[in-house]
Amino acid sequence: MLIFNDIWHVGEVPLLHLAFTCVLLLAIFAVVRWFFRDSQRLDGFSQKHVFITGCDSGFGNLLARQLDRKGFKVIAACLTENGAADLAAAASPRMKTLLLNVTDSASIRSAVEFVRREVGERGLWGLVNNAGRAMPIGPTDWMQLEDFTKVLDVNLIGLIDVTLQFLPLLKKAHGRVVNIASVLGRLSLTGGGYCLSKYGVEAFSDSIRRDMHHFGIKVSIIEPGFFKTNITSPDLISADLKRLWARLPRDIKTSYGAAYLEDYVRMQNFSLRILRNSDIGKVTRCMEHALTARYPRTRYGAGWDAKFFWIPLSYLPSFVADFIVRVLLPLPKGGLN
Ligand SMILES: *[C@@H]1O[C@H](CO)[C@@H](O)[C@H](O)[C@H]1NC(C)=O
Ligand SMILES: *[C@@H]1O[C@H](CO)[C@@H](O)[C@H](O)[C@H]1NC(C)=O
Ligand SMILES: *[C@@H]1O[C@H](CO)[C@@H](O)[C@H](O)[C@H]1NC(C)=O
Repeated sequence: MLIFNDIWHVGEVPLLHLAFTCVLLLAIFAVVRWFFRDSQRLDGFSQKHVFITGCDSGFGNLLARQLDRKGFKVIAACLTENGAADLAAAASPRMKTLLLNVTDSASIRSAVEFVRREVGERGLWGLVNNAGRAMPIGPTDWMQLEDFTKVLDVNLIGLIDVTLQFLPLLKKAHGRVVNIASVLGRLSLTGGGYCLSKYGVEAFSDSIRRDMHHFGIKVSIIEPGFFKTNITSPDLISADLKRLWARLPRDIKTSYGAAYLEDYVRMQNFSLRILRNSDIGKVTRCMEHALTARYPRTRYGAGWDAKFFWIPLSYLPSFVADFIVRVLLPLPKGGLN
C-alpha cells in the first residue's frame, strides 16, 4: 500500500520534478514545432505575380531583383523613369516596371488596370507596400504642418489607398500583403511625420489582417531596424536639417543655441554610423519569407538592432526610451536642463 506521508512524492519520483520535466518537454516541442512550421514553403512561384511599390532604390529595388531571379512574375512600381529604366536593365524580361505615385489615386488606378491585365483570372499573389519617405526628421518645433502631411501622405495614406485598390485582385488569389513599417512604428524616437506614419502602418496592418483573414488573405508587417538606404542617409538628413534650421524664426534658434544644429548633426552622424547595417538583404529575406512561407509570420523584426534592442525596448516603461533619446541627442542651450 502507498503511504502518502509527503504529497510531493509518489513512490520515488518527486512530483515537482515530474511537472518541471513535462513543462520543459512541452516548451522544446513548441519551439521545434514553430521552426518546422516556419520553414515550410509553398511552390509554383513561376505562376505567381508580385506587385512592389518604391522600387527605385533600397529594399524595394533589391526585393524586385531577388524575386525576379527566383522566377516570380514581378511587377515593380517606381516613382521615377530613371529608376524604372535602371531596374528593367538589371532584370529578366519577365519583370514588368511601371510608374506609380502613391499619393495620386488616379496613378494607383492605372497601376491596378495594368496589373489586372497581367494577372488575368489568377489574381495578384503579393502586394508589397514598400514606398516611403522619411524627411523632414528633426525636433518637433522645427516643423510646419505640411512637413507632417507630406510624409503621412506617402507612407500611410498612400499605402492605404494602394491596398484598398488592390484588394479585389488579392482576394482572387488568396494572396499576401506585406507592409514595410519600422522599429520607428514601435518607438517614436524622432520628430516629424515618419514615426507617426509607421505607427499608422502598424495599426492599419493589424486591422486589415483581422478583417481579410476570412478571405484567405494573409498580412505581414516588416519592422526593419537601421539599414543603409536613402531613408537613413546622413548626407540627406543633415542637408534637410540645415534647410529646417535656416527657415526658423530667431527666437526658436536662440532657444536652442547657435551651436545646436552642428551638435545635433554630429551626434546623429555618430549614431547612424554605429547603427546602420549595410546588409539590406536581411530585410528582403523577411519580405520573401512573408511571400513564400506556408505560414507567414505576422511581424518580422529585421536586423539585430530591431530584434534585440529596439523592439524589446518598446515593451519597457517609456522613461527608459526617454532616457536613451536624451543621451543620443544634444541638449538645447535655452532649455530647463
Ligand atoms: C505625386 O502626386 C501628387 C498628387 O497628384 C503631386 O502633388 C506630386 O507632385 C506627385 N509627385 C511626383 C514625384 O510626381
Ligand atoms: C537614393 O539612392 C540611390 C542609390 O541607391 C540614388 O541613386 C538616388 O539618387 C537616391 N535618391 C535620393 C533622393 O537621393
Ligand atoms: C555628418 O555626415 C555628413 C555626411 O556623411 C557630412 O556631410 C557632415 O559633414 C557630417 N557632419 C558632422 C557635424 O559631423
